[in-house]
Formats: sequence, structure tokens, C-alpha cells
Amino acid sequence: MANRTPRAISLPLLLLLKAFLLLASLSLAEAKGVTYNVVSFGAKPDGKTDSSKAFLSAWAKACDSNAPAAIYVPPGRFLLGQLVFKGQCSSKAISITIDGTLVAPSDYRVIGNAGNWLLFQYVDGVSIRGGMLDGHGTGLWACKNSGESCPSGATTLRFSNSNNIVVSGLTSLNSQMFHIVINGCHNVKLQGVKVNAAGNSPNTDGIHVQLSTDVTILDSKIRTGDDCVSIGPGTNNLWIENVACGPGHGISIGSLGKDQNEPGVQNVTVKTVTFTGTQNGVRIKSWGRPSSGFVKNVLFQHAVMVNVQNPIVIDQNYCPSNSGCPDQASGVKVSDVTYQDIHGTSATQVAVKFDCSSKNPCSRISLQDVKLTYQNQGAQALCAHAAGTASGLIQPESCL
Ligand SMILES: *[C@@H]1O[C@H](CO)[C@@H](O)[C@H](O)[C@H]1NC(C)=O
Repeated sequence: MANRTPRAISLPLLLLLKAFLLLASLSLAEAKGVTYNVVSFGAKPDGKTDSSKAFLSAWAKACDSNAPAAIYVPPGRFLLGQLVFKGQCSSKAISITIDGTLVAPSDYRVIGNAGNWLLFQYVDGVSIRGGMLDGHGTGLWACKNSGESCPSGATTLRFSNSNNIVVSGLTSLNSQMFHIVINGCHNVKLQGVKVNAAGNSPNTDGIHVQLSTDVTILDSKIRTGDDCVSIGPGTNNLWIENVACGPGHGISIGSLGKDQNEPGVQNVTVKTVTFTGTQNGVRIKSWGRPSSGFVKNVLFQHAVMVNVQNPIVIDQNYCPSNSGCPDQASGVKVSDVTYQDIHGTSATQVAVKFDCSSKNPCSRISLQDVKLTYQNQGAQALCAHAAGTASGLIQPESCL
């Protein structure tokens, strides 16, 4: 055999291999992006040191990245003041993984007038996975319940004017005000979210959606003092499925029609939900005053009511403290609302109430297989200015 010179062959090969590996790892890093651990920016998991600056520095790095970027929050408690995570970002995919708890200042006055605690604004492609947000709201609730004058309170987590958002496996505890708000957004998915606050905590809506399209809320457990989910003006294509609500005020479209000029709510599906000991089940609510608003194409399907005060309710005569609306009719037009397979127990005799606008009666309301009972007596259905149809087993007897 000829005397081969292995060195002469293997050196260029080795270099080629090295170059190839380098390129491969570079492109891998680019595809996987970089992870920014908040601790390496100075965040302290001790629950006492304000970590706001560290979180904002990590955000700035991720936001400026030309590749997908990740932010990591390790276990521990991180004290944060009011924070704004602002776009527009160079990175079109920022994932935030939280293994720890983010804690609001224990003195509610620090963020009590800030509007929001954690605000994401003008962002695109942000996902938040895991984590607990502790809003420390009990002090503010006590203040509000005592009738003193108090700050209005901060929303715990708000997305404003943002697109392509995912929030999964997040827990919001004791928010001062609303827990999660989706405002002016497109394509938002909330999955496996838990909300926890006392049943008597004021204005602590679980998830509030408004001026937004294509929002999905799945597999979530909401226990709070106000609406589990509230649906405001300008909500289109909302899908809610597999949600447990209670304590709380139920799932509510409204309040609508507070303003004269207001966008409507359409194409809302609320499917497979359980209400336990709540004030309302599925509710549509509008102010008794003129408005351009409307509600149409709504499906409430497969709901179980356990001891719910108002399982099915449309209330178009909302007029808190009788100011600005007495003796006026709601301008909000409610049409094409279907209640399908709703059953369980009512905590009051009136299990179904359609109290619609005298100027704009509810139309094409459909009841299909609705069975609601009240103790051992018959439950009742009340209708005012409501038209529609009933099919299948209907109890109490339809008033449409
Ligand atoms: C209604 O919303 C759902 C998502 O919730 C969407 O898939 C569907 O296309 C929408 N329908 C119309 C007519 O826009």
C-alpha cells in the first residue's frame, strides 16, 4: 500500500469540520436566541430588594435582540414597582419563563394610582409561561371596604395595543384591581391561568377583554370578588372554554353602553364553564342610556350552575346610584344570543331574566335545553322586551 500521509489530508478536513461546527453553532444560537436571566442583571430573589431595574434591563436586551429572545425568572420572590415593558421591539418573539413570584410593594399606595402594575405595550410575539404575580391587594380592599377614600388600585397585568400574545400557567394572586386586562390587542391566548382573590374583594375582575379581536381563554380557574371574565366594548371573536368561576360575579358581557359612541361586541363563544356560588352565571349588562353599542352572535354552551344567584341574565337597565340614566332606555341592541345546554341550581327563584331595552328589544334569543331548579319550588323566568325561541327541555318554562 502506498504510504499515505494522513496529516496532509486530515488537517484541511479538520479545519473544514471546525468551520462547519462553528457555523452550525452560530446559526443554532441565532435560532434558539439568547436567554437573559434577570438575576444576572442584578435582580434579588429575596422579596425585599426592588428588582425593577434588573427586569427592565433584561427586557431592553431581549427587545433589542435581532433573534428570538428569552427572559428567565428563577425561583424566589422578586419585588417590583410599576413596570412598563414597551415595544416596538426588534425581536419578534420574546418568551418570558417565570419559575418564581413577582411581588408588588406591600404598601398599596406605592402603585395604587399607577393604573397598572405590570404593563406590556406595543409588543408583538410575547409569551409568558408560569409564574405567580402577587398584587398584595388586601390592604387596598380593606381601605375600600371601610369607606375611606383610597387609591383606585392597579391592574396586575395589562397588555395594551399588542399582538400575538400567549400567557400560560400563570397565577395572579390578590390583585389590587383587575387581575389581567387585554386592551386593544389582536390574537391573544390565555391558557391554564389561575386567578385567586377573596370573594368580597372589590373590583378584582379576573380577566377583562376590550377593543380586541381573536382572544382565547382556555382551561382556567378564576376565584375572585368581581366578574371572572368581563367583556367590554369592541370585543370580536372571543372564545372562552373550560373555565371554572367562583366565587365571583360570573362571565359578563358589559357593562356596555356607558358612552354614546361605542363599538359593539360580536362573535363570543362561552363553552363548558362551571359557576359555583357566583352572583351571576352568564350575563349581558348595559347601561340604561343612549348608545351606539350592540351585542350579537353570542353562544353560551354547556354551562353548569351550582347555587348561582342569577344563572341567566340580560340586564339593560344598569344605572348605578341612579345617576346619569334614570328613566332612559339602553341604546345597546342585543341580538342572536343562544343558550344551549345550561343546567344546575339557582340560588334565587328567578333563574332566567331577560330585562331588555324598551327602545331596542332583544331579538333572536334562543333557549335550547335549559334546566335550572330552585330549591324544591319551581324556578321562574322573567322577560321584558325580549323575543326569541325555545326548543328542547326548558325549565323554568320559557317567557320568550
Ligand atoms: C368567530 O370567532 C372564532 C374564534 O373565536 C373564529 O374562529 C370564527 O372564524 C369567527 N367567526 C366569524 C364569522 O368571524
